[in-house]
Amino acid sequence: MEGRRKAVVVGGLGVIGRNLVSHLEARGDWDIVALSRRRPDFGTRAEFVSVDLLDRADCEAKLSGITDATHVFYCAYQARPVWAEHNAPNTAMLVNSVEVIARASPSLQHVHLVEGNKYYGSHLGPFRTPAREDDPPHMLPNFYYDQEQWLRAFQSGRSWTWSALRPHTVCGFALGNPMNLVTAIAVYAAISKELGLPLRFPGKPGAYRAIYQVTDADLLAEAMVWCGTSPAAANEVFNVTNGDFFRWENLWPAFAAFFDIPLGPVQTIRLTEFMADKGPLWERMVAKYGLRPIPYADIAAWPFVDYVFGTDWDVMTDTLKIRLAGFPGALRSDGMFLRQFRQFRDMRVIP
Ligand SMILES: NC(=O)c1ccc[n+]([C@@H]2O[C@H](COP(=O)([O-])OP(=O)(O)OC[C@H]3O[C@@H](n4cnc5c(N)ncnc54)[C@H](OP(=O)(O)O)[C@@H]3O)[C@@H](O)[C@H]2O)c1
Repeated sequence: MEGRRKAVVVGGLGVIGRNLVSHLEARGDWDIVALSRRRPDFGTRAEFVSVDLLDRADCEAKLSGITDATHVFYCAYQARPVWAEHNAPNTAMLVNSVEVIARASPSLQHVHLVEGNKYYGSHLGPFRTPAREDDPPHMLPNFYYDQEQWLRAFQSGRSWTWSALRPHTVCGFALGNPMNLVTAIAVYAAISKELGLPLRFPGKPGAYRAIYQVTDADLLAEAMVWCGTSPAAANEVFNVTNGDFFRWENLWPAFAAFFDIPLGPVQTIRLTEFMADKGPLWERMVAKYGLRPIPYADIAAWPFVDYVFGTDWDVMTDTLKIRLAGFPGALRSDGMFLRQFRQFRDMRVIP
């Protein structure tokens, strides 16, 4: 069909990729190929290709046949225990996928890269806030920096354009991924209730009061499509968040009300340690409440929650650049959390 676009979502089962696939499906005017090692656990009209992006030969074999891609949305990610170890695998996956697809698809129009707020060192400690796109990265290494530099150089002289977004703590549904805050908060709250405990913020007291921000996965998908289709985004980098800032101390009472349990005071615990033995309890809750039988290990990655709730410094990015360029999307984060909890309940993921 004239004007029809074909997206390749690289990393189509992550919290960003999975929600982008759903967003593109809902729009109706996109054909979609999604890349991941796993197969999807949900019904989709996207064509899922199982490929190991770290294996160049596998990429050549499986991706050379994609000859009509118009857009690549790169949202694959490999977590590593040490920060400096992120660069090699994450740059290799970008290079292996984009080089092969760009060579095979002469109609390519745009390659979009998802970066993040860690570009500015938000994970290291206090940093200059609100962070702007032209702020320099923290002391290298930073894998987003390597990915962006490679993409800038590779695009130079080619007919297609590129862009990058820097979201922060992306909120949406996904399973078995290392960075997913909302499912973990929901499971923590449901388990607190099952044990007859109040809902206590498990992070640092300073993190309860510090300024924070998040990015809704649907809003991010909208922004990615805007980047891929708007001339104003060509070869540009933008911060993107919901647009508001909040303190957990102002949201936690609404979370307690949603789960219908009393709000308790802050009590700092390492969830990685204290939630480690809750698998059997969760299995009993799955049976008791008729929930979807999702393995406990796939539903919540506690180290990420410990990291987010240990952030006792302000985390703020400036999002004026994307607004002034014409992207209008924004929403209130308190409403977003409650809407997502409700969705997880409707999906029978939580009681
Ligand atoms: N999540 C957040 O809160 C957040 C916030 C800001 C920025 N970001 C950035 O956004 C990007 C995407 O993050 P994400 O959280 O969406 O990642 P994610 O949930 O961990 O998803 C990663 C995706 O990459 C795929 N993948 C990993 N290794 C692969 C391989 N060797 N071959 C093929 N596919 C592979 C995974 O599927 P398989 O496991 O099935 O292969 C999955 O589909 C990252 O750069 C991240 O730093 C994330």
